[in-house]
Amino acid sequence: MDLCVVILLFCVFHLIHGQPDDLGFISIDCGIPVNSSYQDPSSKIIYVSDYGYVTSGENRNISSVYIRPSLAKRNLNVRFFQHGARNCYALRSLVAGNKYFVRALFYYGNYDGLDKLPVFDLYMGANYWHEVNISAAGAVKWMDIIVVAPADYLHVCLVNKGMGTPFISGLDLRPLRITLYPEVNASQSLVLISSNRFNLGPTDNRIIRYPLDPHDRLWSTYDTIPNWNEISATSVVQNYVTDVYDVPSAVMQNAASVNGSRIDFSWGPVDPSENISSSYFFVFYFSELQNVQSNAVRQFDIIVNNKTWNTQPYTPRFLFADSFSGIVQGLASYSVSLVATENATLPPILNAMEMYLVEPITEIATDSGDARAMMSIQENFGVEKNWMGDPCAPKAFAWIGLTCSYPPAHAARITALNVSSFGLAGTISTDFGDLNALQYLDLSNNNLSGTIPNFLGRLPFLIFLDLSSNDLHGTIPDNLLQKSQNGTLSLRVGNNANICANGTACGSSRKKINGALLAAIVIPIVAVIAIFVVLFLLLRQKLKGKDKRKTTGPEDESALLENREFSYRELKYITSNFSQEIGKGGFGAVFLGYLKNGNSVAVKVRSDSSSQGGKEFLAEAQHLTRIHHKNLVSLIGYCKDKNHLALVYEYMPKGNLQDHLRGSTSKPLTWEQRLHIALDAAQGLEYLHIACKPALIHRDVKSTNILLTTDLGAKIADFGLTKAFSDSKTHITTEPAGTMGYLDPEYFRSYHISEKSDVYSFGVVLLELITGRPPVIPVSDSVNVHVGEWVQQSLDHGTMESIVDARMVGDYDINSVWKAADLALHCKREVSRERPTMAEVVAQLKECLELENRLDGRQRSLGSNFPRERGALEAEEEEQGEDIQAVAAGPAMR
Ligand SMILES: *[C@@H]1O[C@H](CO)[C@@H](O)[C@H](O)[C@H]1NC(C)=O
Ligand SMILES: *[C@@H]1O[C@H](CO)[C@@H](O)[C@H](O)[C@H]1NC(C)=O
Ligand SMILES: *[C@@H]1O[C@H](CO)[C@@H](O)[C@H](O)[C@H]1NC(C)=O
Ligand SMILES: *[C@@H]1O[C@H](CO)[C@@H](O)[C@H](O)[C@H]1NC(C)=O
Ligand SMILES: *[C@@H]1O[C@H](CO)[C@@H](O)[C@H](O)[C@H]1NC(C)=O
Ligand SMILES: *[C@@H]1O[C@H](CO)[C@@H](O)[C@H](O)[C@H]1NC(C)=O
Ligand SMILES: *[C@@H]1O[C@H](CO)[C@@H](O)[C@H](O)[C@H]1NC(C)=O
Ligand SMILES: *[C@@H]1O[C@H](CO)[C@@H](O)[C@H](O)[C@H]1NC(C)=O
Ligand SMILES: *[C@@H]1O[C@H](CO)[C@@H](O)[C@H](O)[C@H]1NC(C)=O
Repeated sequence: MDLCVVILLFCVFHLIHGQPDDLGFISIDCGIPVNSSYQDPSSKIIYVSDYGYVTSGENRNISSVYIRPSLAKRNLNVRFFQHGARNCYALRSLVAGNKYFVRALFYYGNYDGLDKLPVFDLYMGANYWHEVNISAAGAVKWMDIIVVAPADYLHVCLVNKGMGTPFISGLDLRPLRITLYPEVNASQSLVLISSNRFNLGPTDNRIIRYPLDPHDRLWSTYDTIPNWNEISATSVVQNYVTDVYDVPSAVMQNAASVNGSRIDFSWGPVDPSENISSSYFFVFYFSELQNVQSNAVRQFDIIVNNKTWNTQPYTPRFLFADSFSGIVQGLASYSVSLVATENATLPPILNAMEMYLVEPITEIATDSGDARAMMSIQENFGVEKNWMGDPCAPKAFAWIGLTCSYPPAHAARITALNVSSFGLAGTISTDFGDLNALQYLDLSNNNLSGTIPNFLGRLPFLIFLDLSSNDLHGTIPDNLLQKSQNGTLSLRVGNNANICANGTACGSSRKKINGALLAAIVIPIVAVIAIFVVLFLLLRQKLKGKDKRKTTGPEDESALLENREFSYRELKYITSNFSQEIGKGGFGAVFLGYLKNGNSVAVKVRSDSSSQGGKEFLAEAQHLTRIHHKNLVSLIGYCKDKNHLALVYEYMPKGNLQDHLRGSTSKPLTWEQRLHIALDAAQGLEYLHIACKPALIHRDVKSTNILLTTDLGAKIADFGLTKAFSDSKTHITTEPAGTMGYLDPEYFRSYHISEKSDVYSFGVVLLELITGRPPVIPVSDSVNVHVGEWVQQSLDHGTMESIVDARMVGDYDINSVWKAADLALHCKREVSRERPTMAEVVAQLKECLELENRLDGRQRSLGSNFPRERGALEAEEEEQGEDIQAVAAGPAMR
């Protein structure tokens, strides 16, 4: 009695923390109140609530109509998941590489009062386990799987596939010795189909389980077949030392036999989702239960699908469990015959059998270190969203905010983590330091407090770190500061409580910036004037800061995160039957539409979808809906409805850059506005190149693909989709995609695409911004000149002013324009490796902006003299040579 209580307490103590009990069992009754538990009277197993195993879903009791006296308590309630495509249970504190037996249990019982039987999918970690097709409201259904745990946790996930709300009644995990079920290894698991684990002989519907089966497998009786007899023994049936299935004696003590000379049975595939491409694993168990007289012989052949499995006539051994097992390819029907041999005097017998689906493990889970760190971050900060199950795999369910790389045959790694505006509060936990493949980390716009930890500086691949707009204080660790200073890390720490670069002069970061500006301005000018200027600048800075917030604030972004699939009908509704065409792209017409929440959207429609390519399109579109950056036009959703393909983007009210540069309607852009546009676009491209792994290459950077917000912020449009479409459409395969005048000559020649092709095109856009000219300038009827060549010639002759867009009416700092032109020509270099990266472009453009802003308070230098600072700039970038000429005459122009 005492022992019982002690065990009970012990189990409860362990299980409420989401861990196995002292037997290594996890036994969950999904849907009972938090932290409650009870002991099952027949198995003596203690079932606990799912607190600590799952963070989503709700509990509900089944309808009283479906309560039967014989029903196990576990079936009286469910947890159901109305929200999210994938919801997962996490079974923790396991041993990586060990074998586990997991069972999920379902009893619908009209818990939702809808009387509608749901169909949904079950996943074991990243891998598909099986479909759950509830066949009757009053039927208990269970699914078993035997797996090798790839890490010290297993995720059981329920996936909504639009055919009803997933729910679950119970979840069990039992450890198995690694030697059991040798068919199960790291690359394949066994899934029990249609509860096909049978104890043959008895017909009383009694299920044998724990404690009779120490592994708590459920052994059901086989449907009564009229001419079968039951034979049984009371003595223990032993297992051989070499046994690998550990069939319990209680199951072996009964067997089915017949009065004739053969046992025959056959069945068709029960589940339509299982087909001839599946393979099955069958095990048949035999043991002699009768003391066979010396003149009698029990001897038979085991014939499965017309193939004899035994090599010699088989005689079961007295009171020893024997097994025959094998893999069977999927067929239209299966047959088993046990046929007595010529010499036999006794009929064949069969004690037990199991039938499994062999499930290859195709999806490789996320690197366990990365996954554990993310699980810990999830728990620490209570992030909800879709943060359940494996963080990266399968790709379609990757956690929001993560970018993963999927190297073939290796675990996925997390390369980017963007948790900007996730509402994270507390200190930056050490888990972030464990994500050691991370290149991009955006923690901005949260309530993170404490100091900046120095483990962030030890992340070997980190090139982007945004800590801005938090409550952090103290010094920036040396390792981060050094990386930031030597250009290997782009570090943002603005708008924090109290951050300083060095311990000695800790002041508000905002003050510091103003201090720097102050110094730059006051020195050359009389102090009294300076005060006015400073006040003016302070005001300006403040206003600017406010502006920025407005366009990139969290409300703005969350409203756009709609991320979904639209039906064609919905699109018709959204666009009022495609009434307002706002443009035409390579993809098709673009229409203005309004979502239910009032947000305006641009809907790009392609109606002649070829049947192939739809899948790639879908995959890519789903992928892209997860990419969010303030300088990328958000893909809000997509439509793949029969033969309609469409993309739904956020609507950009100010249209494209080209119209602003060369259209007649709009007010001319100032140089400062142009630089801001260039910087925004460059940051968008930088994100595509850096934060996406494998890098997303835009392939069609041009002024018509840079769209403007109301306050002239710029966002890149159409990113990434060039790839999706060129992969699926045949006509692009013969020539590189892109637009004349922007096309990288190296790509044109070698068909080798890299990020640097975007850099090239960006250079051309920058030249457009400077000159206001198209990339290819018609000189006469038959002769064209590339804008790059034209700018180069002007630069060579020292006549910078002549090429600068006249619409800026001389209102610019010539040094700034010169620096930008120099940068543009660098981007446009013939040899891709000589071009800067987008990160370098971003840094250079910021300097251009600084040069421009420095001039704010004083008169512009309108002088025609070529700035002599050129020498200094050149010193940094070494040679600048003849090859620019060659680029200008490159194939892109023809
Ligand atoms: C359940 O138990 C855990 C751990 O003992 C505790 O932290 C939690 O507050 C409990 N929840 C409820 C609702 O009692
Ligand atoms: C289910 O019924 C039990 C009593 O039988 C009750 O204590 C529990 O609160 C009910 N749960 C829900 C979710 O309604
Ligand atoms: C679910 O099972 C029923 C028969 O029990 C079958 O008719 C139906 O097609 C199945 N649904 C799915 C999605 O497999
Ligand atoms: C798992 O078992 C299968 C079949 O026996 C075998 O082909 C495969 O190589 C095994 N995989 C591993 C990782 O051992
Ligand atoms: C088989 O034979 C036994 C003994 O002769 C008899 O008791 C039993 O009813 C027979 N079973 C069937 C199904 O004919
Ligand atoms: C077994 O052989 C019989 C007769 O040749 C045939 O009708 C049946 O389809 C075969 N079964 C399988 C599973 O191959
Ligand atoms: C039957 O028994 C005889 C004599 O013991 C033996 O020679 C023969 O090979 C046996 N046949 C089979 C099919 O085992
Ligand atoms: C930049 O600084 C970091 C930290 O000191 C150092 O590890 C790295 O090698 C440096 N890189 C370059 C290119 O100097
Ligand atoms: C920080 O202080 C150290 C010495 O205390 C100095 O070497 C370093 O240059 C300072 N860094 C900055 C950014 O001021």
